[in-house]
Amino acid sequence: MKESVSAAPRTVSHDLPVSAEFEEFMARDWAATPLPADIRLAAADVTPARRARLSARFPGERLIVPAGELRVRSNDCDHRFRPHTAYVWLTGLTGEEQAGHVLVLEPDGPHRHEAVLYVRPRSPRTDGGFYRDRRYGEFWVGRRPDLAEAERMTGIRCAHLDTSGELPPGRDATADAELASALSELRLVKDTWEVGQLQRAVDHTAAGFEDVVRALPRALAHPRGERWIEGVFGLRARAEGNGTGYETIVASGAHACVLHWIRNDGPLDARQLLLLDAGVETDSLYTADITRTLPLSGRFSPVQRQVYDLVLAAQDAGIAALRPGVCFRDFHRAAMKVIAEGLTEWGVLKSPEGDFHRRYTLCSSGHMLGLDVHDCAQARAETYLDGVLEEGQVLTVEPGLYLQPDDETLPAELRGIGVRIEDDLVITAEGARLMSGALPRTPDAIEAWMGGLMEG
Ligand code: GLY
Ligand code: MN
Ligand code: MN
Repeated sequence: MKESVSAAPRTVSHDLPVSAEFEEFMARDWAATPLPADIRLAAADVTPARRARLSARFPGERLIVPAGELRVRSNDCDHRFRPHTAYVWLTGLTGEEQAGHVLVLEPDGPHRHEAVLYVRPRSPRTDGGFYRDRRYGEFWVGRRPDLAEAERMTGIRCAHLDTSGELPPGRDATADAELASALSELRLVKDTWEVGQLQRAVDHTAAGFEDVVRALPRALAHPRGERWIEGVFGLRARAEGNGTGYETIVASGAHACVLHWIRNDGPLDARQLLLLDAGVETDSLYTADITRTLPLSGRFSPVQRQVYDLVLAAQDAGIAALRPGVCFRDFHRAAMKVIAEGLTEWGVLKSPEGDFHRRYTLCSSGHMLGLDVHDCAQARAETYLDGVLEEGQVLTVEPGLYLQPDDETLPAELRGIGVRIEDDLVITAEGARLMSGALPRTPDAIEAWMGGLMEG
């Protein structure tokens, strides 16, 4: 159910009552505080073309794209709010104040739509909401743009959220799925501005990985070293951008065999590897997604290096397979061929044929990257999983070997080692450009890089 903007202030039981005299006093003598003239969003130059492409896919249909609603974390505390990706892509709006806002594309003739953005405007100073309403009051959560300011920011006509009441309450699941898949497919190819934002996310992420290596001596000494590292990376992510684009995976030793280890409650052991999978999300909400597997002592042991080298060879093969026009699945196939052959050489597999190697690789070797870490997830298979790569697509290549500690098919010395190497690439006219090349990938380069940072 939609929350009314002009509802009674959302207060809680320990809020003190307000006298009529105080209410009257609070309602006056506030100066005007207009936002500066130059508040147009950088994305406002690119969003009209995006809305036009969406409009062309759904002639004559009303399209409703909500930012999403605040969600209670516990009692009267909400989770931080991050607007829905489709809403961000179509409006350029990114902030926590977007909760509850809705973009509507109204059919305007058979071949075009008019965009209307329904927003919660500034709290008026004439009722008590601005200082009493914990959820939306300006003195509780900060100033929002008023309608005219939101129009200047976005270039979209804005209306008061309370006037969106006539939007249909019912949901048509089939139509919703069709819209969601169109919005994923339209985002498959990134424009130049988006690639720039992703590069920024990658660069901040590389800085966060450097912070982590510098912090390793302290993290190794802490009983929950994984958590310490999560905090160090989170500091960089929050300071440079909106935060992390997904929960940071800090997996020491055998924890690395759990693909999405986000409990991060283990200690670090200098004899083991650390798998760090982390990404900074920019203020524009584009995220990086990078993994490095590092020797906590600063030096790989021979067996760690053996596993690492095989994953690296697989990643090299995957990256070499990237270019426009090839099947999306080709880079995964190329990487898995190397892994299956390597496992056969080690005697773990009898033959590289078949899919037995998947016991040790578990998941696919990459995905689209953008506003979402697993971007464009609602795209139909024929445009993504079974589609072909196109110039301007950004993706990860992230093969891994996850040698479970209890896997009796493995020699004892390999058990409990998990290695993933994950980089972000943009497809170019000739092939692909490595966006995350600032971080070392080879064992020698990693050791030299770690040595420099840990001494410094
Ligand atoms: N960080 C999740 C993934 O690599 O897909
Ligand atoms: Mn990934
Ligand atoms: Mn990742």
